[in-house]
Amino acid sequence: MSIRKIPTSVNGKVRLWIAFLWFCYVAHGQMRYSIPEEMVKGSVIGNVAADLGIDVKRLKSGRARIAAGDSSRYVELNTDKGILVVNERIDRETMCKKMTLCSFSIEIILENPIQLIEVEIEILDINDHAPTFPNDEINIEISESALHGARFMLDSAYDPDVGINTIQSYSLKPTDNFVLKQETRSDGTRYIEMMLQSPVDREKQEDLSLTLTAIDGGHPPRSGAVKINVKVFDVNDNAPVFTKKLYRATVLENSIKGTLVTTVSASDLDKGVNGEVTYAFRQMSETERGVFEIDEKSGNIYVRGSIDFEKDKRYEINVDARDHGGFTDSCAVIIDITDVNDNIPIITLTSFTNPVSEDALPGTTIAVINVKDLDSGENGQVNCIISGDSPFAIKWSIKNYFTVQTIKMLNRETDSEFNVTITATDEGSPPLSSNKTLHIRVSDVNDNAPVFERPSYDVRLIENNTPGVSIFTVKANDADCCQNARVSYLLEDSEVNGVPASSLVSVNAESGVIHAVHSFDYEKLREFQVKVRAQDAGSPPLSGNATVRIIIQDQNDNAPQILYPIQTGGSLVAEMVPRSADVGYLVTKVVAVDVDSGQNAWLSYKLQKAIDRALFEVGSQTGEIRTIRPVSDKDAMKQRLTVIVEDNGQPSRSATVNVNVMVADSFPEVLSEFSDNTHDKDYNDNLTFYLVLALAVVSFLFILSLVVIISLKIYRWRQSRIFYQSNLPVIPYYPTLYSDAGGTGTLPHAYNYEVCMTTDSRKSDFKLVGPSSQNAFIMDPSYAETMALGKDEKTLLAVSDIVSRQILIVHYIIFFFLLLFRISRIVCVFHVCHV
Ligand SMILES: *[C@@H]1O[C@H](CO)[C@@H](O)[C@H](O)[C@H]1NC(C)=O
Ligand SMILES: *[C@@H]1O[C@H](CO)[C@@H](O)[C@H](O)[C@H]1NC(C)=O
Repeated sequence: MSIRKIPTSVNGKVRLWIAFLWFCYVAHGQMRYSIPEEMVKGSVIGNVAADLGIDVKRLKSGRARIAAGDSSRYVELNTDKGILVVNERIDRETMCKKMTLCSFSIEIILENPIQLIEVEIEILDINDHAPTFPNDEINIEISESALHGARFMLDSAYDPDVGINTIQSYSLKPTDNFVLKQETRSDGTRYIEMMLQSPVDREKQEDLSLTLTAIDGGHPPRSGAVKINVKVFDVNDNAPVFTKKLYRATVLENSIKGTLVTTVSASDLDKGVNGEVTYAFRQMSETERGVFEIDEKSGNIYVRGSIDFEKDKRYEINVDARDHGGFTDSCAVIIDITDVNDNIPIITLTSFTNPVSEDALPGTTIAVINVKDLDSGENGQVNCIISGDSPFAIKWSIKNYFTVQTIKMLNRETDSEFNVTITATDEGSPPLSSNKTLHIRVSDVNDNAPVFERPSYDVRLIENNTPGVSIFTVKANDADCCQNARVSYLLEDSEVNGVPASSLVSVNAESGVIHAVHSFDYEKLREFQVKVRAQDAGSPPLSGNATVRIIIQDQNDNAPQILYPIQTGGSLVAEMVPRSADVGYLVTKVVAVDVDSGQNAWLSYKLQKAIDRALFEVGSQTGEIRTIRPVSDKDAMKQRLTVIVEDNGQPSRSATVNVNVMVADSFPEVLSEFSDNTHDKDYNDNLTFYLVLALAVVSFLFILSLVVIISLKIYRWRQSRIFYQSNLPVIPYYPTLYSDAGGTGTLPHAYNYEVCMTTDSRKSDFKLVGPSSQNAFIMDPSYAETMALGKDEKTLLAVSDIVSRQILIVHYIIFFFLLLFRISRIVCVFHVCHV
């Protein structure tokens, strides 16, 4: 137990064995024990008493003890049993380091007698240590280009155990690339190395992990391991490789600058700088250049310039990838451009008929337009429309040509121009459109006749107008334009009461003003109508007509005319009123007329003058003269009333009449009254004288004319004989008729005028009656004179015949007057001037 047999090495075995023997037997006072290290406290090292042959009692009595020394603390002597035991853990490696033989000595001292026993204790190694490496791991860097046989020194392991318990061998795992070499230096020291057996490829395995294990020879063996980290350095031994040989991308046209088109990517198996790839475009054509750009690091291809589908629909670009070592690869990128509806249709007017005639039939082509859209597909498909309600439509004709046509009849009078907006829209999404406005004018055709503002006009005109005065203006409108609407006016041929209308009125062709040709007299012509025509200047011309009714309005130009009582010469017939007449006795009735009409002919009667106003009254409406009180004896026999007859015109005109009233009960009374008047008698005698004188003159003339007739008849009888022999033509002479000299029939007018100036006078009264008889007298002498001037005797004879007859008639008239005068003296006559 205490002595261990030392195994293994023959050398060591022999030596140990010799030493052991020597200790046990040679030295009496000397002992030797071998114990393994690390024994627990109390472990028996050896029985000293027995081994030395000393009784235990002796040990006690001898007070055996271990002498103090360097190593005395390790062991303890048990005197009771005579054994040495371990007192403290003994570590061989501490005590002896790397020395193979390790022992220490103690001395046991006995007293009575003193005896010194030397005990040598050899500590035997046990494999209590595993090999250890100085570092936890070993880091080795190696270039992937390192060649076969490259060596890398490794740290050796350390095992404090000795002998067989120390490191016996190393092993390395795995051994794919490296093998372990154990070498001995010239000085005998050993070292281990790792040798590259097969090349490393960083691209395959960048980090290699190996384990180096050191194993000792203990039983059981102990080992220690260390991790070897092998880092493979990259070498640029790989070219970049594109992931695809051909990249395809599509990009919209008009994509803004910086739009990512696609990304090309090349991989380089190398690492770090060696694996850095830069991208670049290869040679590009002029047109392609500047359109795209590539990020040299990322391989992103971006839009750089403007992309126009209409210029290029596809781009093919070659891209090179290059690493720092100069290795390259290339790929192709095909970029298809997608059309975007970015071109608006362009409308071009190819032909245009303007203006268009208003009588153009539906379907007439007015314009041809061409529409172009540079986009393709639906984006370039264009439709044209005309918006709004217009009489035009657009139709596709051929390719990209459209025609604008009329679809309805046009009417310039309602729409003289159109702004037709053509909208061309493509079918893109969103659609684009463009407009073009055609300004279409419609030219006029003479399709409208002039139309008078009214079909008929009533024009009122006051009589006695000045000739040439403008009465009225007619106006006709023509819906056409320009020449077709230039209206001229003319009077239609027609007759008014047998005279042509043109002799009454005239129409100004330009202005349509109607003029009165002469002055109208209401009393002769109350109204008439004419037709006016308006004609335009179109070709052929169109015309319209209107009726103009001219109503002549009355003017108060005629004074009332008194019909009764008749007023003749200087004396008038008197009305008789019996003295017994009652109140309201109708004396007489003044009858008057007015040729005017209406108000102008509405007459009223008034008593203007009277000897006794209280006796008579005149009915203002009726003209009846009545008594208003009974007649008395005091009333004068001769009453004279002046009645004024007024019309109601503005200003009013009037006439007066004198009414003589005799207030008497019997005719002789009147007669006596009449004869009382001496002044009257003288006057009447004078008148009688003149009448007798006139009768004598006329009788003389009658005899004279008879003498002329007889002498002429004799002359003719003598001439007739010569006349039959000469065949001279007989030219009869007829005098011009005695008619009104002025064109307007001035005689009645002048006559009226005179009346107007001398109203209410005796002379005017005389003249009022006079003219007609005067005319008759004037006519006769002129007639006779004309006859006397005739050269033909036959005619002269006839004239003389008539003259003599006339003279005879005058003769009788004078005679009649004479007779009348005499009778009137008997009936009742009084001198006008008497009042
Ligand atoms: C057409 O357009 C023109 C100018 O733009 C304008 O003067 C005219 O009045 C328009 N005509 C119609 C009928 O709208
Ligand atoms: C006058 O006009 C009417 C219609 O307004 C027409 O019927 C007639 O024939 C015309 N007369 C003349 C003479 O032109």
